[in-house]
Amino acid sequence: MKDFKYIRESQVTLTELMIPAFANFGGKIHGGILLSLMDKVAYTCASKHAGNYCVTVSVDGVEFLQPVEVGEMVSMMASINYVGKSSMVIGIKVVAEDFKNGLVKHTNTSYFTMVAKDESGKPTLVPGLVLESRDEIRRFLESIKRKELKAVYKDELDNVKTNLWVGENLTSLKNERCKVLFDSYNNVDI
Ligand SMILES: CC(C)(COP(=O)(O)OP(=O)(O)OC[C@H]1O[C@@H](n2cnc3c(N)ncnc32)[C@H](O)[C@@H]1OP(=O)(O)O)[C@@H](O)C(=O)NCCC(=O)NCCS
Repeated sequence: MKDFKYIRESQVTLTELMIPAFANFGGKIHGGILLSLMDKVAYTCASKHAGNYCVTVSVDGVEFLQPVEVGEMVSMMASINYVGKSSMVIGIKVVAEDFKNGLVKHTNTSYFTMVAKDESGKPTLVPGLVLESRDEIRRFLESIKRKELKAVYKDELDNVKTNLWVGENLTSLKNERCKVLFDSYNNVDI
């Protein structure tokens, strides 16, 4: 295995025509279809870099900003942003092109964390990254920041789950669109 590899060595683009079978009941392309294609391109990029089988561990930043239509050509550009020991962050930019009017829209950018595994299924070391441009350095630094922020967010959320007392927070539901039919002090339905 090489100690370090260039980002361009594993960059990959997946292009796929959006056929009617991919549409949801509203006639737009199903989010799950796009996610599945993104997972595929993330896997291709990660395994090219790692030279090993990889698994998807987490997905960040999935927001479908604009709908994708049947007949559009979707391209997913995957590039490795960051490596840890066995983990890699693959950034995926998704664009959809409408041939009739030549319009290209950016539908989303997401970050897939993939982990390389060895023959026995254990996480295994991946090559480091050679950073050749300002953008590559920026993406690497952003990935570190995202990882740190996720850890803080996870701690906060765990804290909320452990310490949230329903009874003390009922007033915060006053302006929400829900009806409370349970008395949490007396543990009975209202
Ligand atoms: C992810 C997985 C490999 C972690 O295995 P593990 O034995 O706990 O290994 P480690 O704790 O050493 O973690 C391995 C790497 O994964 C990273 N990792 C683990 N959980 C993570 C998470 N929730 N988010 C991001 N990275 C994570 C660790 O930071 C570590 O990175 P590093 O090697 O670069 O430092 C294991 O839980 C797994 O195989 N999960 C199922 C993945 C899968 O099947 N995906 C398909 C979709 S269902």
